[in-house]
Amino acid sequence: MHYFCQMQHIEQYQKPFLKYLEGFAVDKEPGNLYNPINYILQLGGKRLRPILTLMTAEIFGGNADKAMDAALSIEVFHNFSLVHDDIMDDAPLRRGEQTVHEKWNLNTGILSGDAMLIMAYQLFENYEPQIFQALAKLFSKTALEVCEGQQYDIDFETRDDVIISEYLKMIEYKTAVLVGAAMKMGAIVANASIEDQNSIYEFGRLLGIAFQLQDDYLDAFGNPETFGKQVGGDIIENKKTYLYLKTMELGSEDDTLNLKTFMSNLELPNSNKVEKVKALFNTSGAADATQNAVKDYTNKAFEVLEALNISNDKKQSLRVFGEQLMNRRV
Ligand code: IPE
Ligand code: IPE
Ligand code: MG
Ligand code: MG
Ligand code: MG
Repeated sequence: MHYFCQMQHIEQYQKPFLKYLEGFAVDKEPGNLYNPINYILQLGGKRLRPILTLMTAEIFGGNADKAMDAALSIEVFHNFSLVHDDIMDDAPLRRGEQTVHEKWNLNTGILSGDAMLIMAYQLFENYEPQIFQALAKLFSKTALEVCEGQQYDIDFETRDDVIISEYLKMIEYKTAVLVGAAMKMGAIVANASIEDQNSIYEFGRLLGIAFQLQDDYLDAFGNPETFGKQVGGDIIENKKTYLYLKTMELGSEDDTLNLKTFMSNLELPNSNKVEKVKALFNTSGAADATQNAVKDYTNKAFEVLEALNISNDKKQSLRVFGEQLMNRRV
């Protein structure tokens, strides 16, 4: 996580954002609704989406302060999606601590999550009508797509015929559109042209795909000491990740047969399953292929930057951000 704060220009946005976030903590009754919200929001996290919103607002000549509510909205929505995602993925750990539904219970996770989704939307009320409308419209579209992506992700757990193009659509929806929207919101607040708004959305979308590919990679190969989530969680849940699909594509006949067996063997203890499946991800070449795909999508995002009407300095800071995401370990 420190890695993320090292760059001067990221810290420049992160600090004021964290201060603003602190002021958002709700000290209201009932505590069982609001305490989990404060808990998840204060648990840390990289805050990369709100940073992108603030950065983009300035890149298009706007004011980062004015983009603060949009940035907060995106982060609150993101955290809402994590609370519900952790229920759906049966995840015990988030940012190195207990997930909300583990620390409290399932019903708390559901309702506190619902409240966060509404709070995220409510933050747009602080904008004048024209900006409000543009933000709300983008938010609704994006939030619905995230639901669609999450449903595909769950549907794929019990399918064994998922293909790469389906996977790419799934991660575009569950993850990448929010990164695109985070940036587009910054552009909207800055009154950027529609053309610029769409280009920066496209940059964010491609970066978001790279980001989720790297998330899949780290879910298997991250360091349990620092990763903050249960390593191997995707394998335990039979997620059809890029690692899985590439093993099916590149692996020998034995590899693919073994993968299917391990992933469907309910008798196999989870720790054995994770180790065996990770070995297949490596020997098949799927781990390397995933790292290459992260690079490819990051480079595709960089190509979009070329066409943007902004200074080279600003393009460079977006490139640095993208490179950091690509090399992240958390
Ligand atoms: C986790 O997002 C969910 C994904 C879309 C992969 P982050 O990795 O940005 O989570 P935090 O906010 O930094 O904890
Ligand atoms: C998360 O995908 C997507 C959303 C939260 C919408 P993952 O399930 O891979 O995210 P992590 O790995 O739990 O953070
Ligand atoms: Mg998850
Ligand atoms: Mg999930
Ligand atoms: Mg993941």
